[in-house]
Amino acid sequence: MKSDRIRWNEKYKTKSNPTDPSPILKKYYQLTPGGRALDIAAGNGRHALFLADHGFTVDAVDISEKGLTIIPRRHPRLNRICADLDFFDIPADRYSLIVNIRYLNRRLFPYIIEGLISGGILIFETYLDNKENGEEGPLRRDHRLEPNELLHAFLPLRIRYYREGAENRQKHAPSVASLVGIKII
Ligand SMILES: C[S@@+](CC[C@H](N)C(=O)[O-])C[C@H]1O[C@@H](n2cnc3c(N)ncnc32)[C@H](O)[C@@H]1O
Repeated sequence: MKSDRIRWNEKYKTKSNPTDPSPILKKYYQLTPGGRALDIAAGNGRHALFLADHGFTVDAVDISEKGLTIIPRRHPRLNRICADLDFFDIPADRYSLIVNIRYLNRRLFPYIIEGLISGGILIFETYLDNKENGEEGPLRRDHRLEPNELLHAFLPLRIRYYREGAENRQKHAPSVASLVGIKII
């Protein structure tokens, strides 16, 4: 959506965003020995760069060209793709690792499964619809998962890890759902 591009370009101009990769990525990326990775809604490239530095060839897709240009240096194994994920086609049987962190686009769920090669890994973590107690996180409900929704969406994968709960121990930390799955067939 065009409004997403404008909103996120503004955010990347004015706000500092985390630059360390998420703990779930660091913990599970080695379930696959390498190959081609897709970072969905890559933002400032914190995960894409980490994976490229660890030997993956990475397609980093995001609507915000401001976010993508934050990636601090050119990397021979990192392809920046500025595209709207509302219309983006994930190629089938292509990736040994797909990462989707802090972004929700339900249209992509079946394409994510198709996009993995056999043995490929999905690492997915994003906000839950649980805004009690002044929790942080996205305001729009369609940007937040229902309880168990992520688990159900990816049941065709072999679920290696699933959790719903506070992102960290800080007061008002947002609730997130986290999933690691392996494509078996
Ligand atoms: C909360 S940030 C997360 C970025 C990154 N995954 C991370 O964890 O650091 C959400 C990202 O989704 C991107 N985004 C939002 N709507 C999009 C769309 N329709 N197509 C592609 N990217 C989109 C934004 O530009 C932003 O970089």
